[in-house]
Amino acid sequence: MSRHVRVAETRCEMSWIVMPSQTNALGTVFGGQVMAWIDVCAAISAQRFCRSDVVTASMDQLVFEAPIKHGWVAVVIGHVTWAGTTSMEVHVEVLAEDPYSGARTQTAEARLTFVALDADGNKRRVPTLLCETDEQREAQNGGRERQQARLEARARARRGAT
Ligand SMILES: CC(C)(COP(=O)(O)OP(=O)(O)OC[C@H]1O[C@@H](n2cnc3c(N)ncnc32)[C@H](O)[C@@H]1OP(=O)(O)O)[C@@H](O)C(=O)NCCC(=O)NCCS
Repeated sequence: MSRHVRVAETRCEMSWIVMPSQTNALGTVFGGQVMAWIDVCAAISAQRFCRSDVVTASMDQLVFEAPIKHGWVAVVIGHVTWAGTTSMEVHVEVLAEDPYSGARTQTAEARLTFVALDADGNKRRVPTLLCETDEQREAQNGGRERQQARLEARARARRGAT
């Protein structure tokens, strides 16, 4: 029988103080650094869901809505929103936390898809995702459609590459 995992069990929250080595000439964090944080946080969420190795298959459009300043705290929060057969979708939001007031503002968000692998590196089935809130159910309901759009984009890219 397939294992069931609650969305809450997949949650991952990570925080870092933004260091000078992670910033550009404007004193705000590099986009590539934010992408790396997103990928790591999402991978941990995916592993908490399937309890196996995972690989990143894709990251949807990433929009940087606001910068994060040197000395501020970058908070990255992820959770699984949808599960297919061997793949799962993770939503990640990136917040900037003012270290003095504690106020948090959203700076970026992304959806990533991971594929679960067994010990031999072959794709393996993922558990069933258990949603417990209306918000979680709403996110899950759109998952099949979002995944279809990704696979269509992959097919278009493959056609373009030949
Ligand atoms: C991701 C990868 C495992 C997919 O393998 P594949 O044999 O092409 O995959 P399939 O077409 O059989 O699809 C397997 C699953 O992945 C999903 N998938 C494949 N490509 C995808 C994409 N671009 N975006 C989202 N999902 C994708 C499929 O929908 C399928 O999900 P399902 O089982 O839930 O229906 C393979 O392309 C790969 O290893 N890519 C490199 C991964 C990597 O190096 N990442 C960076 C470092 S971790």
